Amino acid sequence: MRSDKTPALAAPTALAFKGHTLTIPQAREAHDLLKKAGRVLVLTGAGMSAPSGVPTFRGPDGMWHNFRPEDLATPEAFARDPRLVWQWYGWRRELIARCQPNAGHDALARWMSRHDGVTLVTQNVDGLHERAAERAGSDDPIRLHGSIFRVQCTVCATESGHRKPVDASNEDTLPQCDACGGLLRPAVVWFGEQLPVDALSQAGQAALEADVCLVIGTSGAVYPAAGLAHEAVSSGAPLIVVDPGETAYDGMADVRLVGSADEVVPEIVDELGAGSTPVRG
Ligand code: OAD
Repeated sequence: MRSDKTPALAAPTALAFKGHTLTIPQAREAHDLLKKAGRVLVLTGAGMSAPSGVPTFRGPDGMWHNFRPEDLATPEAFARDPRLVWQWYGWRRELIARCQPNAGHDALARWMSRHDGVTLVTQNVDGLHERAAERAGSDDPIRLHGSIFRVQCTVCATESGHRKPVDASNEDTLPQCDACGGLLRPAVVWFGEQLPVDALSQAGQAALEADVCLVIGTSGAVYPAAGLAHEAVSSGAPLIVVDPGETAYDGMADVRLVGSADEVVPEIVDELGAGSTPVRG
């Protein structure tokens, strides 16, 4: 039975474990749950990339503290003022382009390269999981909210990669479609829009099949992405939450690891899969 009372964290004590030093006592519990699991759903959010220098959305340092989503991240906002929206996405792209995958991204990618049963689902549009995957030779994540380095034509819907700097000085200089000349928009999911059907269906399947659900750096505030962890738990998967702050999942978590993704994730997943954990048939 799951308690909805998370035990208060003891002061960090170092535990010797398989040659590693675990600074968070609950890390061993999380590691053991993951070790036994054939299939794992990993759901990540903005906090995964926070140690890389990418700002999160909510909380006092989050972007939604200083900007209004309805001005910048809805189809109506883009129709009203595409220059403003492109200025914001251009600024974020430049910021993200200077960031590197952190030790948490790398540890997840290495684990996935050793273990077929891990499905990584991300709400992040920054491409840092993909860059870690390239280094480790593992699969790309399932992207629920698109990519900040892709664009879609507002007229012919053609989608393509786009990394060039954006000149938003006037509407004529905004990115235009090579195929039809239409105005291009960032290929990200905005509030009020549908998530990509295939990505959501693959992620939903992984949630149903998961033996364990590992949630990292997401407030759990935005649906349908947030609902994936609920689906996994409803199907019987224990829930591990990695986050330095409070999340909507805290009451239902079996293990709560209060810490930063770049420090906690390597502690719990390094060495996993080395002896090849069987995938449930
Ligand atoms: P949020 O900003 O809502 O939540 C970020 C979470 O990361 C919070 O729970 C923080 O406590 C946690 N966090 C901060 N630093 C961390 C660290 N170093 N390590 C681990 N966790 C850390 O971001 P999301 O939950 O990803 O959607 O937001 C979901 C969606 O809302 C985003 O994809 C975006 C946003 O509006 C769209 O733009 C459509």
